[in-house]
Amino acid sequence: MVARCGAFPRHSGLCIRMTNYMTRNSNIEVLFACEGVKAKDWLSAFANIRGDLNIQVSPDVGACESIQFGVAWNNPRGFWRRFPNLRAIFSLGAGVDGLLSDPELPVDIPIVRMLDGALADEMAEFVMARVIHHHRLLHRYEVQQSKNSWSVHRPPMANQRVVGIMGLGALGSRCANELKQRGFHVRGWARTCKELSDIDIFYGWDRLADFVTGCEILVCLLPRTLETEGILSSRLFSRLAPGACLINVGRGAHLVESDLLDAIDRGFIEAATLDVFHDEPLPETHPFWTCSAIRIFPHVAAFTRPETASKVISDNIDRILSGKSPVGVVERVLGY
Ligand code: NAP
Ligand code: GLV
Repeated sequence: MVARCGAFPRHSGLCIRMTNYMTRNSNIEVLFACEGVKAKDWLSAFANIRGDLNIQVSPDVGACESIQFGVAWNNPRGFWRRFPNLRAIFSLGAGVDGLLSDPELPVDIPIVRMLDGALADEMAEFVMARVIHHHRLLHRYEVQQSKNSWSVHRPPMANQRVVGIMGLGALGSRCANELKQRGFHVRGWARTCKELSDIDIFYGWDRLADFVTGCEILVCLLPRTLETEGILSSRLFSRLAPGACLINVGRGAHLVESDLLDAIDRGFIEAATLDVFHDEPLPETHPFWTCSAIRIFPHVAAFTRPETASKVISDNIDRILSGKSPVGVVERVLGY
């Protein structure tokens, strides 16, 4: 990708250089290395908010030692090892499982996840849409239409519908609060205790069974970690209310795929909304495509928007430069 300073009229200081590195002492050196992401939109967004960033776009990196900050997504193993003077790596996404899976990730700098209110808004919108879809039993009408069948199903009132949210972080707590405001009976599960008004809180592994027992709509918004992989399994499904619905917007690795198909066959689960998968894109021959109880979405529940997320990264750069900790530092031992 080639871009010139002149492409960004609001601040002429933002330069994107391809190969030759020219130091400007006053400028902050950033490497944007996000595979599959349109760099142009991000460069414009950064240019709109400040003029002191020199942003290089991978793979066109000049002097590796000049790079102070990295913006990361989908990088190959060992990628960040090449930059000896990095001060932080900012993940473009809320999930850092991909980044942390690199055994050669620098150990002595902060890894910062994306904490953006706009991302939480979008996730809450998607989760609300799918919870209401399942609550109103709309999945049944979709199946009926394919059979020219007219049959009425009466859902319970929202305050009698138990919705469980796994993960009460930035995204899960927003979804829980909005579902509560919409009138649902909401419970949540996290690793540590939370105070969320009018939401039944469960925390720790020894409360997982209680949390899940009787849930009618289960939403997974956990990060992928060694502890949470495979958590959506037969053991958990068998505790749900009969004919429950599952919404997985966390990561594909949370779900034991064969257990979901089995739970659908056995009536533990009536319908599922899946936005994330073990293999993305979902292979064309995958049995999920032809299962009428499953709705597939291509990892679109929430997008990181350059317009808002560039400000989040920019604020964190300023915090680091003024000697403060960035907001959203990943605890590497926990994996999120
Ligand atoms: P977050 O703020 O880090 O929150 C994670 C939550 O999970 C916290 O409440 C945490 O508990 C809980 N948790 C972690 N490990 C746990 C364990 N072993 N047992 C019980 N609870 C545990 O993350 P977030 O920003 O809300 O994002 C959550 C995930 O959503 C991301 O990691 C990503 O995978 C996914 N995501 C998906 C999309 C999409 O489009 N589908 C978009 C964005 C993000 P504590 O609060 O006690 O620490
Ligand atoms: C998307 O999946 C994210 O982690 O932000």
